[in-house]
Amino acid sequence: MNLLLLSGSLRAGSTNQAVLNTAAELAPPGVETVLYEGAGDLPLFNPDDDAEGVEVPEAVAEMRRAVGAADAILICTPEYAGALPASLKNVLEWTVGDAGTYRKPIAWINAAGEASPTGAADAHDSLRKVLGYVGATIVEEACTRIPVGRSAVGTSGTVTNQDARRKIARAVETLTRAAQ
Ligand SMILES: Cc1cc2nc3c(=O)[nH]c(=O)nc-3n(C[C@H](O)[C@H](O)[C@H](O)COP(=O)(O)O)c2cc1C
Repeated sequence: MNLLLLSGSLRAGSTNQAVLNTAAELAPPGVETVLYEGAGDLPLFNPDDDAEGVEVPEAVAEMRRAVGAADAILICTPEYAGALPASLKNVLEWTVGDAGTYRKPIAWINAAGEASPTGAADAHDSLRKVLGYVGATIVEEACTRIPVGRSAVGTSGTVTNQDARRKIARAVETLTRAAQ
């Protein structure tokens, strides 16, 4: 079972990235996790670069291989300016061309903490909408809100709060069980 971890935040010390690092650390036996780290290197989606007979840029091909190899995907994203970060939307736009996310079991952990006054609700509403357009199978029972502030991220880049760690482990287990 391959679980792809996809962050909507590109910055160092990201709380969303920390949640995914923790998901990797706590994944149950038999679950191989792969952190997708190429979102910042993907070109902006352009249908001309994804047309019949055109070879897609290598960064896109690499992302598609990672998505294709995944049995399930866990997303953790902040909200920027009332919606999904452009980098994450860009990844999802590129998956349309090869239907990589079609029927792929996907869940998210909303880690919005005190820095996010609206609880990133609009970002997750738009994530749900976009995942609907790309035909993903949203694993509702694994989608959850686990607030993680910056102070809950340790020097190793994982979440230190025990309650949050338990909830992250539960979300990973629920998603991967549903995907089996
Ligand atoms: C440019 C910018 C725009 C933001 N816009 C929103 C927003 O619209 N709604 C919200 O709840 N938080 C917003 N935030 C707060 C981020 O969601 C918050 O900082 C989040 O924790 C960042 O996650 P990270 O630590 O993984 O990078 C914004 C932050 C930045 C830098």
